[in-house]
Amino acid sequence: MSQTRANFHTPRHALLRAKITRIRRQETDSATFRRVLAEIGAILASEALRDLPETTAAIETPVSRMEAPVLTQMEPCLVAILRAGLGLLEGARMVLPDAPVGHLGLVRDEQTLTPSEYVVRLPKDLARRGALVLDPMLATGGSAIQAIHRVKQAGAKVVRFACVVAAPEGVAALQAAHPDVAILAGALDERLNEHGYIVPGLGDAGDRCFGTE
Ligand code: URA
Repeated sequence: MSQTRANFHTPRHALLRAKITRIRRQETDSATFRRVLAEIGAILASEALRDLPETTAAIETPVSRMEAPVLTQMEPCLVAILRAGLGLLEGARMVLPDAPVGHLGLVRDEQTLTPSEYVVRLPKDLARRGALVLDPMLATGGSAIQAIHRVKQAGAKVVRFACVVAAPEGVAALQAAHPDVAILAGALDERLNEHGYIVPGLGDAGDRCFGTE
């Protein structure tokens, strides 16, 4: 079942859901996890941007002329929250090959669960393009909130956020902090545990992606 609340959406997409199940399984090895996460990134980017403004242009196919759909704007910038966002980025770039890419390095303190920044590299034309921020896990929402704050500070007026798995706590926190940001999640899980992990979740996405478990 797809779910839509204010600015929050989980797509009804069987292929996406099956791929998420694949990376949830604890027996899935790191190489498979990384490959399937990239495939999920391609699907999420397409879903998150399905309503980009479009118009038509006159073109010629090998057979005839036609009025064909084209985007009215340049592709939005992609912004990966490190480390795990890199896994989604690989797939998102398959469908947005011309999009500039930003990197935001955020690490969360295991005790307080609050994020701190260790790298910020953002494209210059965020204001004209808008941004799609990528992180596989929306847990407490702390990293997403800070990343989106940075992206807006750098000029982006239209910001979207895509994740693989969201916790209700993270969705609520992100909606409260950035009510204008459309959130797309592959799945909405039950809750966070006492260590800040999403339950049932898929474990630590960064460790599983980069084989550092
Ligand atoms: N980050 C992860 O990688 N996994 C979680 O469950 C929560 C935050």
